[in-house]
Amino acid sequence: MDQRSVSPHVLILPFPIQGNVNSMLKLAELLCLAGIQVTFLNCHYPHHCLLSYSNVQARFSRYPGFRFETISDGLPMEHPRTAEQFLDIVDGVKTTTAPLFMEMMISWCRSTSDTRPPLTCIIADELMTFATDVANEVGLPIVFFCAISACSFWAYCSFPQLIEAGEVPITGDDMDRLVSVPGMEGFLRRRDLPGSGRVNDAAYPGLQNIVKIFQQVQRAHALVINTFDDLEGPVLSQIRDHCPRTYAVGPLHAHLKSKLASETSTSQSSNSFRKEDKSCIPWLDRQPPKSVIYVSFGSLAIITKDELRELWHGLVNSGSRFLWVIRPDALVGKDEERQTPAELLEGTNDRGCVVGWAPQEEVMQHPAVGGFLTHSGWNSTLESIVAGVPMICWPYFADQQINSRFVSHVWKLGMDMKDTCDRVTVEKMVRDLMEEKRAEFMKAADTMATSVKKSVSEGGSSYCNLGSLIEEIRLLSA
Ligand code: UDX
Repeated sequence: MDQRSVSPHVLILPFPIQGNVNSMLKLAELLCLAGIQVTFLNCHYPHHCLLSYSNVQARFSRYPGFRFETISDGLPMEHPRTAEQFLDIVDGVKTTTAPLFMEMMISWCRSTSDTRPPLTCIIADELMTFATDVANEVGLPIVFFCAISACSFWAYCSFPQLIEAGEVPITGDDMDRLVSVPGMEGFLRRRDLPGSGRVNDAAYPGLQNIVKIFQQVQRAHALVINTFDDLEGPVLSQIRDHCPRTYAVGPLHAHLKSKLASETSTSQSSNSFRKEDKSCIPWLDRQPPKSVIYVSFGSLAIITKDELRELWHGLVNSGSRFLWVIRPDALVGKDEERQTPAELLEGTNDRGCVVGWAPQEEVMQHPAVGGFLTHSGWNSTLESIVAGVPMICWPYFADQQINSRFVSHVWKLGMDMKDTCDRVTVEKMVRDLMEEKRAEFMKAADTMATSVKKSVSEGGSSYCNLGSLIEEIRLLSA
């Protein structure tokens, strides 16, 4: 039989938060462009948000081989979904989505009435590790998708060695350099470890869970990472020693944009869960080139009112223009405590613009944007790198702690403000980024942005890795 006569069909299962659904949808679209059929199994909440606030439906209607399906994550639609409730989402997925997914897959795989070709493999977010049991049950290969950086993935994989060496949980000074993450000896400090690696309690249950998750992910048939070889080559080689079929195909938004530009006339690909306030674009149009620092802490991070005030004073005192996203659910506290103080909003004058949610990819590419004060979420970091915009990193949790160390120490694309938030530091860092040290940061940012373009263009590393992933999927369907 001709190996191409069976049409490949993959099932994509994202973890139900903005950053992860966003990047997996981009992967889905790239696979559709290669002629692979895709069933995208989305949890109800993100699906509802996408249909309400993004253009996914119109965009994906162009691909006859694409379909959305939905599944519950056990949480009511109105359940808040910031970092404070992150563990609720993890629990909901484990207790509700996992058994439903098992039932659903057994029934699909046995069904004789489904008109679609049989599934070739499951591509699941690495946080959906239960997909391994389901894949084994129905006899399908499992591919895990890493929505986080390769450096954070590798640090998580190294937790068993860190625990064995007594480097985790933290006992001494968190500035101490670690020796148990291969390839990061000498510059990674305890305080840079992702998530549960920063705890000082050996009994902390998150630690053992993380170990289990990453041991399971490493046993997958293949691994897809939203990064690129020029950015994370040394770490990727460490990962490939353990998972030879590791495909670095990112940055996915740049990769998709490049493919869409060459294959169709459309290049808009918003996967937003919230209504974008586009009024910031005409405001940006009125600002001088590279004069604005964009401030945004992603879709989950929350901040206290004190932190908000310190950030605001630091920004205003720096003299820089700023565009700041303050999500309606970003402030810690109950009801009225969650309101952004009116005097801050009034005090921004013409130099500042505040919105509840921005069209971030468009903002990052705007000529007026010259810096990014970010929480170092991986999507935001990649969007900044692609746009050639240097960063001030104020990591909040999880992978963000190590991303910020790589941004400042390895890639030299900005500064790390980890664990600090006072107006003097903010002012100094904004001045450094936008004025004093601008030339050195811009040089590194321009070089990396050029590498991105090469990586996603014909013959580039991500372009070729995506080709290999597609070939791998075709072989599996043969
Ligand atoms: C989460 C984790 O927190 C992060 O650490 C991990 O790397 C990915 O998943 P999140 O915190 O939301 O994501 O951050 P990030 O990865 O940066 O994703 C946020 C996404 O929302 C980005 O694609 C960004 O463009 C988008 N966004 C953010 C908007 O479109 N508008 C906004 O106003 C803010």
